[in-house]
Formats: sequence, C-alpha cells, structure tokens
Amino acid sequence: MQITLETKPFAGLETDALVTYVFEESDPVQGRVADLDKLTGGLLARLAKSGELNGKSLETTLVHAPTGLKAARLLLLGAGKRDSFNPATLRKVAGTSLRFLKTRGVHNFAFALRENDLTQEAAQAATEGAIAADFESDKYKTDKKNDKFIEVLSLAGFTDADKAAGEMGIARGRVVADSQNFTRDLVNEPSNKLTPRVLAEKAEAMAKEAGLTVQILDEKKIADLKMGALLSVAQGSVEPPRVIVITYSPATTKPGAPVIGLVGKAVTFDTGGISIKPSEGMEKMKYDMAGGATMLGVMRALAALKPNVKVICVVPATENMPGGRAQKPGDIQTAMSGKTIEVLNTDAEGRLILADGIHYAKQLGATHLVDAATLTGAIVVALANINVGVFGSNQDWTDKLLASAKAAGEKMWPMPTDEEYREFIKGSVADIQNIGSGKGGGAITGAMFLKEFSGDTPWIHLDIAGTAWNDDAKPWLAKGPTGVALRTLVHLVTSF
Ligand code: BES
Ligand code: ZN
Ligand code: ZN
Repeated sequence: MQITLETKPFAGLETDALVTYVFEESDPVQGRVADLDKLTGGLLARLAKSGELNGKSLETTLVHAPTGLKAARLLLLGAGKRDSFNPATLRKVAGTSLRFLKTRGVHNFAFALRENDLTQEAAQAATEGAIAADFESDKYKTDKKNDKFIEVLSLAGFTDADKAAGEMGIARGRVVADSQNFTRDLVNEPSNKLTPRVLAEKAEAMAKEAGLTVQILDEKKIADLKMGALLSVAQGSVEPPRVIVITYSPATTKPGAPVIGLVGKAVTFDTGGISIKPSEGMEKMKYDMAGGATMLGVMRALAALKPNVKVICVVPATENMPGGRAQKPGDIQTAMSGKTIEVLNTDAEGRLILADGIHYAKQLGATHLVDAATLTGAIVVALANINVGVFGSNQDWTDKLLASAKAAGEKMWPMPTDEEYREFIKGSVADIQNIGSGKGGGAITGAMFLKEFSGDTPWIHLDIAGTAWNDDAKPWLAKGPTGVALRTLVHLVTSF
C-alpha cells in the first residue's frame, strides 16, 4: 500500500472513497465536517438530524455518489467524545476505515484528517493504524482472492504549511507499522516452518538488510557460554537452540553512556515438555516466540529511526518438547550466572531461557533492561487480553516505559514485585525453583524469577501472554498476532 499526502481541496478529490471522522456531541457537523456538509448541500446535517450520523465510537455511515464531491463514496466514522479523542483513537479510526473499505472492493481512498490533526503525530498515528489494519493472516491460503486490496491511501486535508510535518509522520509511521507487521508475520508462522534455526536465519537477514550488527550463537557456542538454563529447555528437542544477538550503535557515543538491553522469549513451540500441556488449544503455542519477534521488530525500526543510544537485543530461541532427552521435574540446572535452579515444572520454560538471555545482555554491557515474553497464563487471569503486565525493579525506568506506553497508545498496567514475593521461588534443594508453591500470583512469581537474573541493573518485564494474540478480529485489526509492545519500546528508545 502506497501512502501519500494530499493538499488538494476535498471537492476535487477523485477517489473511491473520501473518509473522515466525527465526534459524538450535540452537533457533530462542525469544522471540516461542516465544510463537507456545505459541499454536499446539507447532506451531513440531514444525516445528523435523523440520528444516522452520531459520532458514536467506530460507527460507520457510508454514502454512495455524494453530490458535490468527485469521490465515489463518502465514509464517516464515529470517533467518540471529543474530550477523550487522542492518537490511539485516530489509529483505530484509520484502521477501521481501511478494513471497512477493503472488504467492499475499494482500492484507493483519501483519509481526511480533522482541523486539529494536521500534525506529525496525527499523520503518524493514521499511517500506523492503516498499515497495521492492512495485515492479513492468509499467507498459507492457496485460494486467496486477490481482488481485495488497498493500493493507495492519501492523507488529505493538509496545506503547504503543515505538509512537511505530515510527510514526516507518514515516514515514521511506515517504519513503525511495517516493523510491527514484520513481528506479526514471524508470530504467525507455524512451528514446523519456524524452528529456532529458521528464526535465526530470518533475524540475520533482517539485520543485514537494515544495517545492524548480528551474531547467531549455535548450540556449541551456547554450551561454551554455559547457558545451562536455556540448554535444559532445548535438550528435549531434535531442533538445536539459537541465541540471536543484534546490536544497534549510534554514530557517536560518550563513554559511560547508557546501553539498553532488549531480551525476548522465543519458544518456537511450547508443548510444556514432560509437564505436558492439555491438547485443547495447544496449537496457539506457536505464538510463544512473540516476545522475541517483538524485539526483532523493534530493532528493525530502530535501524531506520536512528536513535542516539546503543541497543543490544538478545533473543534465546528454542522448542520446548517432551522426549527421551527432555529435562524432567526435579532436575537441577545451573544457569549462566552460576545460580542453581530446581525445575519443578518443565512448562515454566520461558523464565529459564530468559534467565540466561538477561544475564548475557548484562554481560554484553546493557545498563537498562527490558524483557518481553508470553510468560504466564496467570497474566491472562489478572489482566485479560486488555493490558500488558509491567513488572519492574526501578521506579524511574518503569515510569519511563509506562509514559512511552501511553504515548504509543498501548495499554500496560504496573504489577508488584515486592520483596515478600521472593519467598515464592526460594529453593529447597537449589538456589531457586522455577515455580511457586501453590500460593497464587503466578505472573508475579514468573517475574520474581527473572528479577533474580537482572541483579542491580534497572529491569522491566513485560508479560504479553494475554495481549500478543487477538482471538477474535477487531474492526481495526485482523485476528491473530498483534505485535503488542513494539510501538512502546520504539518510543522508549527513541525518546531516551
Ligand atoms: N507459554 C506459556 C504461557 C502461556 C500459558 C501463555 C497459557 C498463554 C496461555 C508458559 O511457558 C507457561 O506454560 N507457563 C505456565 C507456568 C506455570 C507452569 C507456572 C502457565 O502459565 O501455565
Ligand atoms: Zn510453558
Ligand atoms: Zn512458554
């Protein structure tokens, strides 16, 4: 999909559809909507009067062959109350309009930004919403009907004065949303097509194309580094593990400058291992590499946005399988850090591989850590599919991330990591154990385990188990992988 910026007046736009959004207020026909009302001879005022045009969130009003316009259709989307309108709403409105029109065979449309939205931020949000909405999970369908696609989207309503800001917003929005879709593509791949080795190859190809430094650690190098926790999960599979290391370095760095470490869980399939999962719904566990895929997408975006801070990304990748060589409940493993772990449940494998990933990121020089992982079913119980769970060891660092989440329009909620919870993972025969002893707080227990390996380095853990996958399609997003947390992390790094 091509995205262009349009400065021509609305009346003369020759397009399959002209789209804008209206607010839910006593008179929704104001500003640009009033301009369109005049052009169409009072059509919008009539629709408002009849109650058909009311601005209610994501309601659609479609008019064919509107008089006074060259556009074949006029589409009005509800944007909800004006007070609560923000870039996150605009993203959804833009995405909803794209999906609405795409299913109706439209190939190009002009999305008119409202009078207060002729900014870089708004253009970026609309671009992101449209590109993310255009993503479909149909790669493996052989009977794809190729007649439903959007070829050109133009962001309309700009003037020469705000054109530069709009173009900048489109460019940045494209980088961010293409990277989000890169992540979603990886998450969609089934585990027979995306083994740890294949993920590493794809990561390497992306990094080389983007101009990032990349190193892939194979099973031998992983053993040399004594990553015993990662190896314990990998030993049950015939597919060897990999650790993907990608580095972004800014043009200049001062000695002692901060280095951000991004660590992502990439279990390309989680059967649970010997503590095997029930078969119902197990197919979804191909998404258990979403944290790793998110970090790879973030690096892809950073390569283009060129922030002024060094970033090291570490993605441990493995399968979690039962088998003759698989680790068994009660086994004791030694992590790279030297800590011993009693593995009481082989299905709590994400924390094992992240233990070594986090330690390694620190060893490579990270001064500020963020990990992302589909870590626990318990976070789904706590926050459902609405909020990402945020666990942190340092208030300033956590506050920065939460501010970025807000700016990026991603819902994230702070969770506790009080010292009292450490009791849950205290080991009886080893230093720590990989599950709690039946006291509830499963998502916190997972986080406390990871915290052990972050030491004194400011660290944040994002549990994306509930939010990385849409079980049902939304008007603005297809069913399947969401690419959650990518926008927040890109914002965090670029505003550092
Ligand atoms: N990948 C899962 C997390 C998960 C579970 C995501 C269910 C979505 C739905 C993770 O590796 C896991 O299995 N966690 C266990 C931990 C438990 C054994 C302490 C869980 O949450 O059940
Ligand atoms: Zn598991
Ligand atoms: Zn898992």
